[in-house]
Amino acid sequence: MCGIVGIVGEITVADRLIEGLRRVEYRGYDSAGIAVAGRDGHVERRRATGKLKELDRVLDANPADGVTGIAHTRWATHGAPTETNAHPHRAGRVYVVHNGIIENFRELRDEMEAAGRRFETQTDTEVVAQVIDYELEKSGDPKAAFEATLHRLRGAFALAVLIEGMPDLIMGAREGAPLVVGFGEGEGFLGSDPLALAPFTQRVAYLEEGDYVFVTKRKTEIFDRKGQPARRQEKLVQLSAALAEKGNYRHFMEKEIHEQPEVIARTLTHYVDPFRLVVRPFESIDFKQYDRILIVACGTAGYAGQVAGYWIEQIAGMPVRNEVASEFRYRDPAVSKRDLALFISQSGETADTLAAMRFCKDRGLTTAVVVNAAHSTMAREADIALPTLAGPEIGVASTKAFTCQLAALAMIAINAGRARGHIDANREKELVTGLLEAPRDVSKALEMEDEAKRIAGELTQSRSVLYLGRGVYYPLAQEGALKLKEISYLHAEAYAAGELKHGPIALIEENLPVVVVAPHDHLWDKTMSTMQEVAARGARVILVTDSAGLAACDVKREDVILLPDCAPIASPIVAAVAIQLLAYHAAVYKGTDVDQPRNLAKSVTVE
Ligand code: AGP
Repeated sequence: MCGIVGIVGEITVADRLIEGLRRVEYRGYDSAGIAVAGRDGHVERRRATGKLKELDRVLDANPADGVTGIAHTRWATHGAPTETNAHPHRAGRVYVVHNGIIENFRELRDEMEAAGRRFETQTDTEVVAQVIDYELEKSGDPKAAFEATLHRLRGAFALAVLIEGMPDLIMGAREGAPLVVGFGEGEGFLGSDPLALAPFTQRVAYLEEGDYVFVTKRKTEIFDRKGQPARRQEKLVQLSAALAEKGNYRHFMEKEIHEQPEVIARTLTHYVDPFRLVVRPFESIDFKQYDRILIVACGTAGYAGQVAGYWIEQIAGMPVRNEVASEFRYRDPAVSKRDLALFISQSGETADTLAAMRFCKDRGLTTAVVVNAAHSTMAREADIALPTLAGPEIGVASTKAFTCQLAALAMIAINAGRARGHIDANREKELVTGLLEAPRDVSKALEMEDEAKRIAGELTQSRSVLYLGRGVYYPLAQEGALKLKEISYLHAEAYAAGELKHGPIALIEENLPVVVVAPHDHLWDKTMSTMQEVAARGARVILVTDSAGLAACDVKREDVILLPDCAPIASPIVAAVAIQLLAYHAAVYKGTDVDQPRNLAKSVTVE
């Protein structure tokens, strides 16, 4: 959730720490801070509330000189986003930055206070600094102090630690939150994700759960949970630092919306044999072995999973159960080894989805994950990792990751359909051909941006917006409402069109905007009846449809977003563009912080 960067080196480090933080600011942006040690071991700390640019201002006014340092951008869990609560936290000679939650911090704090230690903050992180400093005073050995502290911590965390008087050392640990080490010439690095290190090195190693590490200029020593030296494979992560740049776009979200034709094509190409027009079989999954697919995810990934639910039932005739990860993990759900447990996650680190995956693994289910971050915890822990190739998604609002998830999930549905004999070769070819057109269809859908922008401007005049859809377009309506809430802070609700008359229709009043996501399909007439009902009650209907839908529509609507005609299987992917553009432009009209909306962060690694 929070961003961490650590550098041990020979040259001035403050600017480089900020450069690294800038790449991961999307992970949290309530406050930021750095601590740097000079060659003489003296440590300077600078912190600021708000965005990274505030820390920049602090450093301009009061530079911090040093060659080794740790840095952090925060998404508040314990304690308000104030400067005092900003990381790094300090106790005695010890400075700590932390991502995650220390569950037993209360108990440790009581113990430290009983030992006469005084605390400055209410945060769980300060407890870590206090315990390390306490142990350091006892043993005088930083490594032993760190190891002793790690044995005492419970919870999920990634840590980076700097010690006054020791400018050639940073220490790091990982337990439930990601941390990578980076290798350079005469320099060592720590980062919460490889993007943080992209400006400095592409040579990284991912720490495993329970690992801790001592990084110096010349060597990096990794140990496993038992204290045994551990080898973690060095990987070349080819993330150009430019990937984290906005280019000519005003926001990452805008850039990522426009990248969709390319990244959807990349994802499809990974799975499809374009000459034979078939989906390459997943050798690792025998769909005949399973009675049911259990799909578990959060937020946008969950909506992608719901679309997949419709597809898998229709194309493969296989029962699907969709689950919200945070509910599933605590419900004591009835699962069977004949369930294939399928998880969906952009980051591969979402705490609830990861816990749900571990729950299923513990019960002996086969686990598969549709995942964007190739080296994430879920990608490594699942039995089968099915990649989406969307590239790094920086905007907090998920866009290209969603459509790439849909592309990969369609591949699962087709593969399952073929393996179970539910579709024949002609039907497979028809589906694959339709999907291969999706990148071109999405490009065409992007051409209606001006129209979406105009309509979005009008949406912002309302206090609330309703989204309706049926079948595969119901999750699209939910995704549309989530996107609008998330970045424009407008209130939005989504309903399955058929549910409207069971209560929500009471919300309809004169001029209430109702976005109806309804490309023409077998449910068209049903959706039209609902549209009729809301229009008759004075709602301002905004219809998202295709040319067949437009031709068949005899209900009064205020506005239409006309999608290109496309194959039914590609249609949810194409319709996603319309709801993304509506939300994006509504947020721009309202002047909100599109890429870093309030109270949110990109990957939710805490509960
Ligand atoms: C989407 O716009 C969200 N910010 C959010 O719902 C997200 O999809 C959810 O937190 C799941 O994240 P994941 O895909 O990284 O697991």
